[in-house]
Amino acid sequence: MKLFEAIEQRQSCRNYSGKAVEKEKLIRCIEAAQLAPSACNSQPWSFVVVSNRDCVEKVTEAVLESGMNKFCENVPAYISVVEEPAYLRGDTANPKYAHGDMGMAVENICLAATAQGLSTCIMGAFGPADRMKTILGIPQESNLRLVIAIGYAAEGDTIRPKKRKSIDEIAKFID
Ligand SMILES: Cc1cc2nc3c(=O)[nH]c(=O)nc-3n(C[C@H](O)[C@H](O)[C@H](O)COP(=O)(O)O)c2cc1C
Repeated sequence: MKLFEAIEQRQSCRNYSGKAVEKEKLIRCIEAAQLAPSACNSQPWSFVVVSNRDCVEKVTEAVLESGMNKFCENVPAYISVVEEPAYLRGDTANPKYAHGDMGMAVENICLAATAQGLSTCIMGAFGPADRMKTILGIPQESNLRLVIAIGYAAEGDTIRPKKRKSIDEIAKFID
């Protein structure tokens, strides 16, 4: 799949088939995250990839506790995103860039998923963070930022028209 096709086809999927995701495809998504740029190459991120059925069930239960994201009932895998300290060769990189860096890694994950025929939904609402960290074996002092639902879209789930601000609103061209 060409880059622009993946960009155009990536959308937040809220209707999954439940079909299991191949481990190689999940690894490919993490490889895409690994290649994302970051301030001073500090790579202030780590990921927990869950496809084990029992663990997926626990993650789903925790997400549903948020009262949102009810579509997760059929999600077969999750990738959780943890913000790590922005160190570079022992020095502290400027932490103000960490959120942007993570955003780039997350988009790489979503595009890599799309290019492999998968769908994703980035979730900021994933239930109580302490419970999710316990389920995922993440230290309580860590910053769990996002949980990405990943799987195959249910049959009939189509690409929606994008609702976006116009180019005129978001960009100025100085020719
Ligand atoms: C940081 C972040 C948090 C989000 N949290 C949720 C969420 O909890 N539940 C949800 O259904 N969508 C969530 N979304 C998806 C956005 O609603 C979605 O990206 C946006 O509406 C644009 O739609 P699209 O992704 O289909 O292009 C989140 C997106 C981002 C980037």
